[in-house]
Amino acid sequence: MEITAEHLRKTFGSTVAVHDVSFEIARGEVVGFLGPNGAGKSTTLRMLTGVFPPSSGRAVIAGRDVAREPLAARRALGYLPERAASYGEMPVEKYLRFIADMKGIPARDVTAAVREAMGATALEHVSHRLIGNLSKGYRQRVGIAQALIGSPPVLILDEPTSGLDPEQVTDIRGLVQGLGSERTVILSTHVLPEVEAICSRVIIMNRGRILAVDSPSSLEEHLRPHREIAVEVAGARDDVLRVLHAIDGVSGVAADAALPGAPTITYVVRCVHHRDVRREVAAAVAAAGFGLVELKPVVMTLEEIFLALTSRDRLGDEKAVTPPSPQVERVVASH
Ligand SMILES: Nc1ncnc2c1ncn2[C@@H]1O[C@H](COP(=O)(O)OP(=O)(O)OP(=O)(O)O)[C@@H](O)[C@H]1O
Ligand SMILES: [Mg+2]
Repeated sequence: MEITAEHLRKTFGSTVAVHDVSFEIARGEVVGFLGPNGAGKSTTLRMLTGVFPPSSGRAVIAGRDVAREPLAARRALGYLPERAASYGEMPVEKYLRFIADMKGIPARDVTAAVREAMGATALEHVSHRLIGNLSKGYRQRVGIAQALIGSPPVLILDEPTSGLDPEQVTDIRGLVQGLGSERTVILSTHVLPEVEAICSRVIIMNRGRILAVDSPSSLEEHLRPHREIAVEVAGARDDVLRVLHAIDGVSGVAADAALPGAPTITYVVRCVHHRDVRREVAAAVAAAGFGLVELKPVVMTLEEIFLALTSRDRLGDEKAVTPPSPQVERVVASH
């Protein structure tokens, strides 16, 4: 395992910021760390990176115990803190050379390492400017650049795209995706589509505890009791409802609240167990002479997954919640 957290706990006075957090991340994984404000994400990342020791528990980075071999652990690590140290009086390039030095990069390799990190974060044209005079997004890029220097095998990025413009967000996302299978990344973020785009697994935290560790798609499967298909059809509503209901494997159909005289209506077809009846739906709609406009599975977004898990946690409810899909909420009529 490239990153191991074992029963990490952190208290600040009487506040328990992180209760009992354990997880393992294998080499090459990109894992998203999610949770509401104050969930304990940054505190957990700080224990992993050795910013402060845990009150109890253990962190291991690339085989090095963070408490016992702090220097070796830090060598293996690129860390973007939530609030990057400012070094406002230093020009960008000079600062990055200083970081390269601190990371123990041999003098002959420093120029190349700094150039590579500045290239990856599009900083070349501000290389001589003072960090303190840069805009917020550029300071964030400097933070990412210092984490990348020396190509460490493990990257821990606390809200890497916060404050960046859309173009930079796309670039940084591409950068993380392009790091390749040798690099292990944990990134915390509040931008959920980002996680869906680049992370193989997510860790969802709330109130200092882990609620779930899984891929977005299996989280969805666990949270959704039924498979549903949205099908947009041109045809008389009652006739379409009858045809859809008659399909083997369909347990319920609901029609969208379309305006009177709308050319098409969207129906949400609920499937028996987890059967996929898309082919049967397409065939039945065509055979009945209706126009099939669109057919797609109804999927929960990571946003819905996140809200379902954290609101259940807030209510202290042990039972699985069944979050309504937006389509079903709009339903006015069904057979
Ligand atoms: N140095 C500290 N002293 C006292 N309390 C702290 C300290 N650092 C964190 N906390 C508390 O620990 C809890 C977790 O904070 P943390 O910064 O880890 O949350 P987070 O999940 O990163 O939130 P955000 O999404 O807002 O960044 C909060 O209640 C916070 O107030
Ligand atoms: Mg934080």
